[in-house]
Amino acid sequence: MRTPIRNFVLGAASAAAVGGLVFACQSAGPRDIATGDAAARVYVPPGKHDDYYAFLSGGYNGQIAAYGLPSGRLLKIIPVFSQNPENGYGYNEETKPMLETSHGSVPWDDTHHAELSQTGGVPDGRWVFINGNNTPRVARIDLRTFETTEILEIPNAAGGHASPFTTPDTKYIVSATRFSVPVPNTDVPIASYKQNFKGTLSFIAADQPGKMDIAFQILMPGYNYDLGHAGKGPSDGWFFFTTYNSEQAYEKLELNASKNDKDFVAAVNYRRAEQCVAEGKARPAPADYRHNVLDEHSRAARSERRSSVQMLDPRDCPGIVYLLPTPKSPHGVDIDPTGEFIVAGGKLATVIPVHAFSKMMKAIESKQFEGDLAGIPVLAYSATIAGEVQKPGLGPLHTEFDGKGNAYTSMFISSEVVKWKLGTWEVLDRIPVYYSVGHIMIPGGDSRQPWGKYLLAMNKITKDRYLPTGPELAQSAQLIDISGDKMKMLLDFPTVGEPHYAQALPANLIEAKSVKFYRLSESTHPEVVKAESEGGIRRDGRMVHVKMAAIRSHFAPDNIEGIQLGDTVLFHVTNIEQDWDIEHGFAVFGGTNAEILIGPGETRTLKWVPQATGVYPFYCTDFCSALHQEMQGYVRVSPRGSNVPLAANVSAKAATQAARAGQVPAPPAASSGRR
Ligand code: CUA
Repeated sequence: MRTPIRNFVLGAASAAAVGGLVFACQSAGPRDIATGDAAARVYVPPGKHDDYYAFLSGGYNGQIAAYGLPSGRLLKIIPVFSQNPENGYGYNEETKPMLETSHGSVPWDDTHHAELSQTGGVPDGRWVFINGNNTPRVARIDLRTFETTEILEIPNAAGGHASPFTTPDTKYIVSATRFSVPVPNTDVPIASYKQNFKGTLSFIAADQPGKMDIAFQILMPGYNYDLGHAGKGPSDGWFFFTTYNSEQAYEKLELNASKNDKDFVAAVNYRRAEQCVAEGKARPAPADYRHNVLDEHSRAARSERRSSVQMLDPRDCPGIVYLLPTPKSPHGVDIDPTGEFIVAGGKLATVIPVHAFSKMMKAIESKQFEGDLAGIPVLAYSATIAGEVQKPGLGPLHTEFDGKGNAYTSMFISSEVVKWKLGTWEVLDRIPVYYSVGHIMIPGGDSRQPWGKYLLAMNKITKDRYLPTGPELAQSAQLIDISGDKMKMLLDFPTVGEPHYAQALPANLIEAKSVKFYRLSESTHPEVVKAESEGGIRRDGRMVHVKMAAIRSHFAPDNIEGIQLGDTVLFHVTNIEQDWDIEHGFAVFGGTNAEILIGPGETRTLKWVPQATGVYPFYCTDFCSALHQEMQGYVRVSPRGSNVPLAANVSAKAATQAARAGQVPAPPAASSGRR
């Protein structure tokens, strides 16, 4: 989001000039300093827990970070689309398949919108979804384990920005293409944009973990699609997306996509789309995409290739999409808790336009159309608009709701949050934020029942707010009390990555079901060891498998010989502890990979290709016990063709146990003769 900032600023400057808008930026007054009781309001004493979990996207770090609110404590970084050396995600063999795409392994993405699963239109604490903005993907994070368990690539799309917003029962999450491209993508002149470039809206079945799939795609005009939100209550069954670049510019968009006074909100009747698919009105379209799932019992991922989607052309299914003219290059589209109001954040607009769902339905019934674009009826602005918030500030982007009839909109250019009233559209309050706020978040603030106590502003620029750290400064979040008439600034904390968007919910919806360890007895990992005696070594051509147990404070085996240059060694390490928060790590000297971090009861595999003969230590990287420093071992690497026998020691006790159990352990290294 760094480059667009400049665009926003320039664009808005021109918008302000064109509109002749006079707006005085509020100067920093006493209210930018937290009020006297602010510290007490956010103080969570040592040993006490926060009231809310907040999930902040990491933006271009490809991760999600979980924070506690109101304290702002960082609880965990959850890697999603990016490799994470801290825990080996995307480096170990078990999780590498999670990052597979039709373009090969893509170990990075740009995460934007954290979206909690919902039941009955209310966040339920089962999953948080997030999108990859660059290589369009959506991911499911299981909130029992705080790990990424599923990733689906989105075909026929380029840039997945309007994603992964959910329907009220998480039947679908959506992803709309940010950049229109040829569909299917093929070699055409860029100047043939108007003829050849299309947008797609993808509806993704999401309520069955491990079974995400594209339910259908809708072929749309070649605009840019920005954000989306599902209807609820009376508007349940509809989905709303913002579009910009209705000019269909393909160069210098800063200027050329900012010409029209209005772009559109696309209203999609997805129940009607389901009917059309059931009636065979969709056509199977070729597609190439990946579905990656982490198996719950083996805790290893697999990646499957898929090759077709159901594509709906609105011409073949009249009534699935309508376009609502909306000023100007709208960014966010947010539906109020009652489901009646559709609020658009026209980033170059001088007002905040609000459409009414009931008026939209009447306009559809009475065919108040201004025309038709690619077979999609365009409704008259006057027929759908419920009101406009006048002089809200500069650069309105996103709106959330407190459930008490108030709306809060972020103002990127004037760096403030503005509170206004639904129905009367009057501005009630405004508070400066530091600086250049993008999304804002109220726990449950896009749902049917917001927990309207706090608002989190997520800021792009923090110049002068913290101790300097060179040219690049941390981005930040600011916590604002919205429980009274006037907003009060409580807390300001730097974030990990870009806090693009976030969602939060009461901690009790997650806390009690948090998993403490993985049950070893239920592990189906093919290389699991369930006792130290099951450790060993085997050769399969140039591949050597070492099965190893990790338990406080040793590895079994811990002496390995018979590896030869040219071998690839796979260390399959099982943490056989069955205790909460007892992790072990594993790293080998000269390894060209990250460490692996192994949770209690899980097996993780590190691949190592030694480059020279010698003896290499390995050790536990996670400070697990008083004898953590003793948790180490050696691997001996001999020349290719050497007669050193393959050997891994197991303890005498373990060998005896194994013999009693009728197993043949690998020969202890000691008995193979030290040379
Ligand atoms: Cu195991 Cu440190």
